[in-house]
Amino acid sequence: MSRTSTFLTEELNAYVAEKFNGEDVFLSELQKEAAEAGIPAISIAPEQAAFLQVLLKSINAKRVIEIGSLAGYSAIAMARVLPSNGKLIACEINPEYCKFIRRKSREAFLDHIIEVREGPALATLESLGSSDAPVEFDLAFIDADKPNYLRYFEALFPMIRKGGLIVGDNALAWGHVHEPQPDFEPNNVAALRAFNDLIASHSGMLATLVPLGDGMVIGLKL
Ligand SMILES: C[S@@+](CC[C@H](N)C(=O)[O-])C[C@H]1O[C@@H](n2cnc3c(N)ncnc32)[C@H](O)[C@@H]1O
Repeated sequence: MSRTSTFLTEELNAYVAEKFNGEDVFLSELQKEAAEAGIPAISIAPEQAAFLQVLLKSINAKRVIEIGSLAGYSAIAMARVLPSNGKLIACEINPEYCKFIRRKSREAFLDHIIEVREGPALATLESLGSSDAPVEFDLAFIDADKPNYLRYFEALFPMIRKGGLIVGDNALAWGHVHEPQPDFEPNNVAALRAFNDLIASHSGMLATLVPLGDGMVIGLKL
């Protein structure tokens, strides 16, 4: 345990979330509408949205791919900081969620940037990878079914430019990532541990884990 670390209490986390909040009025309304539509409240936290926006701007990102988009909260937060000729491919398996994201993207005047790809993300990645034109992304944000995180990484790694980022959500596995045999969602926790291990030890990546929200593991492609 480091002597210089300050561990986040609920109060400290509330402070961070209040000061560094990527949620504007549009996104807070989106959350309300999503709840009314029966979409589960499992999006990233507002402080994670701010962090993703800083990451995207700092690498001058134009092309982004998201794996698991739910109601479009993180996709819209990210698309807001892309240039007008930018592109964000939102991969989502649930057709109702896809409809919701498309509508909210239009309302946010971001439908020229956000392209929703409906279906299992692995199939979408396969079709992108086999297209004639080379596919290159500045950042990939993985936030879908945990057991497929390693497969998403394998498919995405060749598509990320040097200096680009792969970001995985839930890197703290709901607070259970350090437990070898957790009682809570053991398969998902094991998948997230394996993903963290891969990014941490990958010779082609410089990696870190940022404990915002449920944790984000970040690999920069060397
Ligand atoms: C945690 S939510 C994503 C939250 C979103 N990134 C946000 O912060 O607003 C996970 C999403 O992944 C989707 N999903 C699950 N399995 C998938 C798959 N195989 N392919 C594509 N999407 C999938 C779910 O339908 C769900 O909407």
